[in-house]
Amino acid sequence: MRRSLIFILTLLGLTACGMTATATVDPVATGRQAYTIYCAACHSVSDVGNESFGPNLSALYARAQSEPDPGAWLREAIIYPNTELAPGYQAGIMPMSYATDLSAEKLDGLVAYILKVGAPQP
Ligand code: HEC
Repeated sequence: MRRSLIFILTLLGLTACGMTATATVDPVATGRQAYTIYCAACHSVSDVGNESFGPNLSALYARAQSEPDPGAWLREAIIYPNTELAPGYQAGIMPMSYATDLSAEKLDGLVAYILKVGAPQP
């Protein structure tokens, strides 16, 4: 009886440690990494010194601001890029596979990253 109690307490302790470890992962860092791998070929962070295929992250941030929930809109726009189109851009260039290719953590990270680096910098 006493033994199993110790076992359960140890298990709880380990779970708690594991949870703290995941909670401290910075979504912006996850997003920055995913952006570099999946998005940077077409989207630059800003116009400065950069050509890009798609709208830069500042433009995406600016459009998201006119939505009731900017984060939710960005998430949808990444998964379904052709539902709306960025002004001046064509459909069919942005890949439509991110709904299945990207984990929820990566998607959340990308949204956090765009909301951070797309915002006007002081
Ligand atoms: C092959 C080039 C390409 C890649 C790779 C790409 N995009 Fe795009 N993206 C575009 C183009 C072109 C548009 C403008 C057309 C449109 O709005 O769908 C766009 C539009 C968007 C939009 C706005 C969609 C809308 O509803 O208006 C968001 C948000 C976005 N991209 C985010 C991302 C993120 C995040 C990644 C990486 C996971 C990514 N894109 C990867 C080319 C690309």
